[in-house]
Amino acid sequence: MQAILLRETGGPEVLRLAEAPDPQPGAGEVVVELRACALNRRDTIVRKGAYPSPLPLIPGSDGAGVRRDTGEEVVILPSLRWGDRETVPGPGFEILGGPTDGTYAELVKVPAENVFPKPARLSWAEAAAFPLAGLTAYRALFSRAGLRAGETVLVLGAGSGVSTFAVSLAAQAGARVLVTSSSAAKIERAGELGAEAGVDYTAGDWAAEVRALTGGAGVDVVVDSAGATWPDSVRCLAPGGRLVVFGATAGATAQLEARPFYFGQFSLLGTTMGSPRDFAALLAAIEAGGIVPVLDSVRPLAEAAAAHERMEAGVHFGKLVLETR
Ligand SMILES: NC(=O)c1ccc[n+]([C@@H]2O[C@H](COP(=O)([O-])OP(=O)(O)OC[C@H]3O[C@@H](n4cnc5c(N)ncnc54)[C@H](OP(=O)(O)O)[C@@H]3O)[C@@H](O)[C@H]2O)c1
Repeated sequence: MQAILLRETGGPEVLRLAEAPDPQPGAGEVVVELRACALNRRDTIVRKGAYPSPLPLIPGSDGAGVRRDTGEEVVILPSLRWGDRETVPGPGFEILGGPTDGTYAELVKVPAENVFPKPARLSWAEAAAFPLAGLTAYRALFSRAGLRAGETVLVLGAGSGVSTFAVSLAAQAGARVLVTSSSAAKIERAGELGAEAGVDYTAGDWAAEVRALTGGAGVDVVVDSAGATWPDSVRCLAPGGRLVVFGATAGATAQLEARPFYFGQFSLLGTTMGSPRDFAALLAAIEAGGIVPVLDSVRPLAEAAAAHERMEAGVHFGKLVLETR
């Protein structure tokens, strides 16, 4: 089969199309003939070698295609071996696409429990775009932060793949949605997904601007994948507010003031990926809301390097998709 084979770690140029052995399914595994895969920020981290994986490796966590043994059209849940507990994944947990070969390929093998029916309404590119980002957004908003209708949620970085799902899912659930972004155009596009307003985080005191949008009350939930932003995110919270975190795009360290945090009765909630139950709930929410994943761009698999360059330039809005055949 053809695949993007990572033989060394480094810049986007290490993503080269090559011939790779067809995956051979073991007991309980199935092979999926992929039609499309999608990028996640994680893929750039794997490519740089910051999440160590044996090489050569086929990256990629997201994919949709045809299950070879049954002919069913499927999407892939990228959480491998989540385990029995909803609260936390088990010791065998892993994310598809490093160290296990992933979806930047014509074929991928996964455990049979990781394939779910593809929503018929969605194109192959749209179906490949939602699993990891949609799952992360769903678990962050609902399983972890317990977002309810009528509450206000702030989503940081409107252009992020995860954020586009967070905005759509939160708006569909009846929450008031605010965003931050580096771009006025991205704030406007978030508005089309259901965000009421947004502020530019590159200029001025964005946390104060967010508070002003709430009449000084603050927001009930902040969805923060930027990391270094935690102190300002806390400043946006209403009393009893929840800060849910799962990324460090802007930096992996943050210093919090202890007293305002406990006086505010705040909660800090870490989350990562999601369980099979979260994924089933995400699929139901996507169908119920008629949600169509936001595609930034669709390219052939051979242009994986160009897609990584675009993601790292931060100019994208939504998901970058690669067609695998
Ligand atoms: N733990 C998990 O399970 C999990 C799962 C998925 C993703 N993640 C993490 O979540 C993050 C987002 O992933 P992704 O795939 O959606 O990435 P992505 O599409 O590359 O999005 C990155 C976005 O981060 C925003 N950003 C950068 N600096 C910011 C800042 N200072 N304040 C607010 N926003 C900022 C930018 O938004 P604008 O373009 O609007 O300025 C940018 O578009 C990554 O760190 C990723 O590793 C973690």
